[in-house]
Amino acid sequence: MQAEPKLPHPDAPSAAHSERVAAYVRDRIAEAGGAISFAEYMHHVLYAPGLGYYSAGTAKFGAGGDFVTAPEVSPVFGRVLARQCAEAMSVTGTAEILEFGAGTGRLAVDLVGKLDELHALPARYRIVEVSAELRARQRELIETELPGHAARVEWLDGMPASYSGIVVANEVLDAMPVERFVRRADGVAQIRVTDAGGRFECIEGTAPDFLAAAVGNIEADLGRSLPAGYVSEVNTAAPAWIAELSECLNEGFIFVFDYGVGRREYYAPERSGGWLRCHFRHRVHDDPLLLPGIQDLTAWVDFTGVAAAAVDKGLAVAGYVSQAQFLLAGGLAAELAGMAELPSDAQLELSRQVKLLTLPSEMGENFKCLGLSRDSAVRTSAFGMTDRTVSL
Ligand SMILES: C[S@@+](CC[C@H](N)C(=O)[O-])C[C@H]1O[C@@H](n2cnc3c(N)ncnc32)[C@H](O)[C@@H]1O
Repeated sequence: MQAEPKLPHPDAPSAAHSERVAAYVRDRIAEAGGAISFAEYMHHVLYAPGLGYYSAGTAKFGAGGDFVTAPEVSPVFGRVLARQCAEAMSVTGTAEILEFGAGTGRLAVDLVGKLDELHALPARYRIVEVSAELRARQRELIETELPGHAARVEWLDGMPASYSGIVVANEVLDAMPVERFVRRADGVAQIRVTDAGGRFECIEGTAPDFLAAAVGNIEADLGRSLPAGYVSEVNTAAPAWIAELSECLNEGFIFVFDYGVGRREYYAPERSGGWLRCHFRHRVHDDPLLLPGIQDLTAWVDFTGVAAAAVDKGLAVAGYVSQAQFLLAGGLAAELAGMAELPSDAQLELSRQVKLLTLPSEMGENFKCLGLSRDSAVRTSAFGMTDRTVSL
């Protein structure tokens, strides 16, 4: 943990909101007898109804918020992904899209708009969104920007019981609550959050069986024990999400985008401290106990764990590529073909957006796309360039 990251001061309404969230979390800690797991803390500060970061009305996305995601950076992201969705619908003989965690609704607007241009409109575009506030924002954006197609878009309260089609999830797995742990010489300790006289503090407790088993599986997979004192995270929600998705997917293709790495890198000895990051007003720091409810908490994804959970449930890994590789092989050049005809300021803006999406020092390398299919023969062109599945 950093001692005191240099962060801007929240304005008075945000600070008052954060106090309400902190009071809510303190009540949960008291109810639990003095401490809650880090995963519970992360769940409350992000998703407590009407209070959590994703459930309340803070800006979150874009220049006035705390972070930007690829669809918010540029419509080019959604337009290339639309080409890949069209390919995937064609090869799997399906005609629906299911998006998880749709944020502001920007990706849905860009995907449907481009699929219309490609004459490949899905019969239905369904969204599973845990935040009621974001659902309302998505509905408003879609009704404003896609008035002709709004009737095609539906919101679901959870995964459908049975589904054939394309699944899209951009930066959803990193927003799922993670367990934090410390490897001790005599076992695994769970990191918990307690209330130290009005201030949150992390303490260690005996890991519950599921966490000890998850760390044990990681060590077995790595073929070595993690060093004593090693701190990291385990996302047990992501494999559960993939397993549930795989059970409902009859036919189709899944595009999972997120920042993440394979397991060997995730749990490399020199990565003690883990992959949890906090975002507040475009500053990144690593103290999750600050600013409860008004900063975003995210954890990079262990893509090996996600791929293994998918394979375990009978899905096939179609490919694993960086975001830059996905865009370059997936149709970026075709999307930029008309660029020379744009006014020079629009050309400059577009080239700024493309750099942000593709440069290794920006989002090009840290973000990956994992492609999963029901049928092992199915793969789309974006995975054709430099598939890194063997690195998982
Ligand atoms: C970091 S935002 C990304 C939003 C959007 N996909 C984008 O790229 O701009 C995470 C989103 O996932 C949603 N979310 C988190 N967990 C979810 C889950 N289990 N199922 C569906 N949505 C979820 C959040 O409410 C939020 O909309």
